[in-house]
Amino acid sequence: MSKLVVHTEEKKSKINRNLYGNFSEHLGRCIYNGVYVGENSEIPNVNGMRCDVVEALKAIQLPVLRWPGGCFADEYHWKDGIGPKESRKKMINTHWGGVVEDNSFGTHEFLELCRQIGCEPYINGNVGSGTVQEMSEWMEYMTFDGVSPMASLRAENGHPAPWKVKYFGVGNENWGCGGNMRPSYYADLYRRFQTYVRDYGENRVFRIACGPSTDDYAWTEEVMRIAGRYMNGLSLHYYTSPGTWEKKNSATNFSRADYYETLKKALYMEELITKHLEIMSRFDPEHKVGLIVDEWGTWYEVEPGTNPGFLYQQNTMRDAMVAAATLNIFNAHSDRVVMANIAQLVNVLQSVILTEGDKMVLTPTYHVFDLYKHHHDATLLHSWLETEEIGDEQNRIPNLSVSASEDAEGVVHITLANLSPDTAYPIDCTLTGRANAAARARILTGAMDAYNDFDHAEDVCIEDFDALTVENGALTFTIPACSVMEITVS
Ligand code: AHR
Repeated sequence: MSKLVVHTEEKKSKINRNLYGNFSEHLGRCIYNGVYVGENSEIPNVNGMRCDVVEALKAIQLPVLRWPGGCFADEYHWKDGIGPKESRKKMINTHWGGVVEDNSFGTHEFLELCRQIGCEPYINGNVGSGTVQEMSEWMEYMTFDGVSPMASLRAENGHPAPWKVKYFGVGNENWGCGGNMRPSYYADLYRRFQTYVRDYGENRVFRIACGPSTDDYAWTEEVMRIAGRYMNGLSLHYYTSPGTWEKKNSATNFSRADYYETLKKALYMEELITKHLEIMSRFDPEHKVGLIVDEWGTWYEVEPGTNPGFLYQQNTMRDAMVAAATLNIFNAHSDRVVMANIAQLVNVLQSVILTEGDKMVLTPTYHVFDLYKHHHDATLLHSWLETEEIGDEQNRIPNLSVSASEDAEGVVHITLANLSPDTAYPIDCTLTGRANAAARARILTGAMDAYNDFDHAEDVCIEDFDALTVENGALTFTIPACSVMEITVS
């Protein structure tokens, strides 16, 4: 019997809802066909946005969406994506498949998408191939409420009222696809570019600097040293990619050893966050700068027969376990990690949604975001979980992962994942101070390689879990192998 104790009187940090954010890039079929089909499409849409996708994202209460990249951001020129669609400039998407980008989805369309979903926009500006003026004018175009060249241009293009845009990234992966810069050079550029990303009226910009890849602690150190006092957030990118970069795993056809390797690599997020935060603290002892994990998730070989530049991959229960364990790590660090954006929204990498023509599939990862949605803006509770090591010789991982929070109504939500692909565990869960509690639970469970596709859209989905006993504040149940549970205690 594994013990879990949730100390309901030991309240910790507020879990920022933005930890449950997502990322949408002009990459493969994420934007085009994924979220945007155009006003004239036969696929049901509102102003060009797919109704099915928007409804699904509303259901998980998507809080924030990053756009337009990724690597695409540092070759994106926003003025090419405004005005009459027939006269918008066409460009080559050099990073992702060399396809023609017709710019029919631009600033107005992205902000309309966010309006329909009800989420905050997070816009990533171009440092690599852009200018200070271009970045400055983008913010003026979107948010200035008055008489100015950019505000007039916005009105000419059909949107006289300004939008609210809080989150703005100054460059993406500038150590790589965003210009191959050295940290000191980027840090100076960051200082310069961000100066002209103005706060207009009541719009207060939360400025996000390009942070490290994975364990590039030298980047964090140098950028924080030179530019730390000019930023509100520093981004971290980390992908879980079992195998080697040249020969990655298949998304669906993998062994138990691959499974353990994947989970082990995903759990490395804990060490990365801890070490980057330690460095950030040296330059920012008052913790004014938040860590933003604005790209994370699994990265496998593309599905056979698909364009290698489109990064289209299936999504199994293995991905659900990666998502569950990672989100529990983010919750645990919610005092300093203030946003995270899984890559990516639709049809790219660890997507929450897949589409094909007018069909849509919700992935196991989507269902994890559904199970975790009650953590949004809730208060993290101290919890203690007895775990044991499982895995093979190369990769040892804990069998269980948990987080617990209390929402504004005093309801406790526990998200518990059993990372073992084959063993169920009996759990004895105590909630201190909740002697007369009532509990209910939902579960996502399946074989480690189970997934949904367009012919079997609901092979993996959330079910009610009734096999739970409550007595004197203690819950007992058995968590099946390879499953994620949400337990609600009121
Ligand atoms: O998410 C795919 C790519 O991964 C992004 O464009 C880039 O920022 C990262 O390397």
